Amino acid sequence: MSTSTVITHIATLVTNDPSLGDNSPLGLIRDAALVIDGDRVAWTGESSKAPATDNRLDAGGRAVLPGFVDSHSHLVFAGDRTEEFNARMSGRAYSAGGIRTTVAATRAATDAELEANLTRHLAEALRQGTTTFETKSGYGLTVEDEARALRVAAAHTDEVTYLGAHIVSPDYADDPAAYVALVTGEMLDACAPHARWIDVFCEQGAFDGDQARAILTAGRARGLHPRIHANQLSYGPGVQLAVELDAASADHCTHLTDADVDALAHSDTVATLLPGAEFSTRAAWPDARRLLDAGATVALSTDCNPGSSYTSSVPFCVALAVRDMGMTPDEAVWSATAGGAAALRRTDVGRLTPGARADLVVLDAPSHVHLAYRPGVPLVDQVWRRGVREV
Ligand code: NIG
Ligand code: FE
Repeated sequence: MSTSTVITHIATLVTNDPSLGDNSPLGLIRDAALVIDGDRVAWTGESSKAPATDNRLDAGGRAVLPGFVDSHSHLVFAGDRTEEFNARMSGRAYSAGGIRTTVAATRAATDAELEANLTRHLAEALRQGTTTFETKSGYGLTVEDEARALRVAAAHTDEVTYLGAHIVSPDYADDPAAYVALVTGEMLDACAPHARWIDVFCEQGAFDGDQARAILTAGRARGLHPRIHANQLSYGPGVQLAVELDAASADHCTHLTDADVDALAHSDTVATLLPGAEFSTRAAWPDARRLLDAGATVALSTDCNPGSSYTSSVPFCVALAVRDMGMTPDEAVWSATAGGAAALRRTDVGRLTPGARADLVVLDAPSHVHLAYRPGVPLVDQVWRRGVREV
């Protein structure tokens, strides 16, 4: 029989189920309690009505919310790009070309180095409340290096994405069509067994709409689900392609036409916004307000990578989204939890409802609003994953 634990005196509990709470999207319960049974949530409600359990913990008036679901990161890499960041902060523009620097460092790294780097970044993310994360290949760009990246990632998460189509490999600079053939052929054969998703960087300097369609379609034929880096640096076909292929998510969405917004709003494709990238590239912010007002589902994630967004902090992204992207604190917290889950087509995480995974964050603050209200302050006091306290 599994052990049950009740956490009482939660000043604000974010369930993300309107019917359990105050009918708002966050499903807030004030002065709440939550019961964990084994690795699952068993009960939520008012603290005074909490059932008897094996263990009892007092949250002391803190807030509890679902663990963050970071649905977009690039954590299998070696080296860093401090010099490139410094140059950008002196006025140089970001371009996809910097990816080559990380490709060279990643190819040169041993398996143990890649594993150690990934583990270090995951520990960093966990301390900041991330309990579910997606991560991808994309810094190998050979059959062996892409498959290796996915094997390393798959030891830590089920949400593994094959991104052989990050940029055209430098080895194929003169023959991009041959590289697309490799990505959809031998490389796909080697990578498909290790991944759930397939992604492509659809952008000038990376892959155009036709190449992206060919790559995602080939992946789908091998049982991988599409997601896309779309409309990050310029307007382009990525978002429309995402909707056409029923991609789980179109990521970045920084340059959108009205037709792009409308397509997202009438689809099951989530718009995943990655404000760490705009912060670290000094680019214009994606317009979350416009997407939300149109009825699109919005997720917020870190995009953690050594080039365009070297942050593993979802709370930082929440604060940016509230300050600069027109989101309310409630919307940003929803997008970083339930939104991330939707972008991974998951219903077992991103919510604290009976039957959901007991993945939760206890904040050293009375409500989730403090994540944006107190930016840069380490408010994450405890992190529980699958019913076990890990921070
Ligand atoms: O999501 N946009 C493409 N890929 C990454 C950046 C990768 C890099 O610069 O190393 C991104 O921002
Ligand atoms: Fe990315």
